[in-house]
Amino acid sequence: MSAPLLRADTPHPDTLFDAGWLALRRPADTAARVDTLNRLAHDWLRARAGRPLRLIDLGSGSGANPRYLAPRLPGPQHWQLVDHDPALLALAQGSCGLLCDSDGRPADVNTLLRSLHMLSEDDFAGSDLVSASALIDLVDEGWLVRFADACAYAGCAVLITLSVDGHWVIEDGEVADPDDAFVRTAFNAHQQRNKGAGAASAASDGVDRNAGPALGARAAPRLATLLEAQGFRVTLAYSPWLLHAADAGQRALAAALLDGWRAAAAEQCPHAAARIEAWHVRRQLALARESTRIEVGHFDLYAEPGVEI
Ligand SMILES: C[S@@+](CC[C@H](N)C(=O)[O-])C[C@H]1O[C@@H](n2cnc3c(N)ncnc32)[C@H](O)[C@@H]1O
Repeated sequence: MSAPLLRADTPHPDTLFDAGWLALRRPADTAARVDTLNRLAHDWLRARAGRPLRLIDLGSGSGANPRYLAPRLPGPQHWQLVDHDPALLALAQGSCGLLCDSDGRPADVNTLLRSLHMLSEDDFAGSDLVSASALIDLVDEGWLVRFADACAYAGCAVLITLSVDGHWVIEDGEVADPDDAFVRTAFNAHQQRNKGAGAASAASDGVDRNAGPALGARAAPRLATLLEAQGFRVTLAYSPWLLHAADAGQRALAAALLDGWRAAAAEQCPHAAARIEAWHVRRQLALARESTRIEVGHFDLYAEPGVEI
């Protein structure tokens, strides 16, 4: 990657994630992902194999995405994992140390401590696949446009998974809670706040304030449109989390989600704090029933360049 990706500013707090949260969501992410897209990426890379394949993972966190993808894709693989969180990158380096490709060959994995803010057109030059999971709902329109431009410039394939679609539903056998929709709307509005992911300049304290609103639930369909306009063949697939309260791990994830939705909704609508708190208590009680299930919508996207005529 070229130098313009480098930024030393303080990450926006909404773009920092707890390693425990990433570990908690990993089984649900693995179950949700759409295998058809892996196979499309596999075939694209297989056709280019015979030389080392260059794979980039943006917003790698603790490395869940390369850990999932490496054994499903051909090689030889050279991964570059990019993130602005040094602690998560250290975990990624450790957890990805023994990755192998689908033919059992060891993958080569490097980490890069960088902010994604200053994405430039030639950042992916020479790469075969650019991937990310649970990332693009944080970015703004300007960043996504530059991302699509950089993918087109590189002529690489794109696999962007687990982008939220803004929908979730809690089914507990009762009539839907009247405040689910209120909390969901408040949470989605909170998610579209400016998270600093797109600004080209930072304030004097180093925290970005100039980026546009995060795309949130609109990110994946928007990326599909941008890549199609660049001549890519795009597949967009629904990849929801399906969480059952009867399963302890899934119940723990669901409980963390309820806490997160409560916190974001209360920050977005401080005047409704008591209403949101009461909703949270009711939904925690629902989660105590084994028959309760929660569906949280996501999109997976795969795209590859069209044939030039
Ligand atoms: C929700 S986590 C997903 C992590 C990982 N891809 C996974 O699926 O577990 C988002 C990741 O993006 C990183 N991130 C967010 N904004 C970033 C930015 N502007 N520059 C670099 N990394 C960023 C965070 O540090 C975090 O590791």
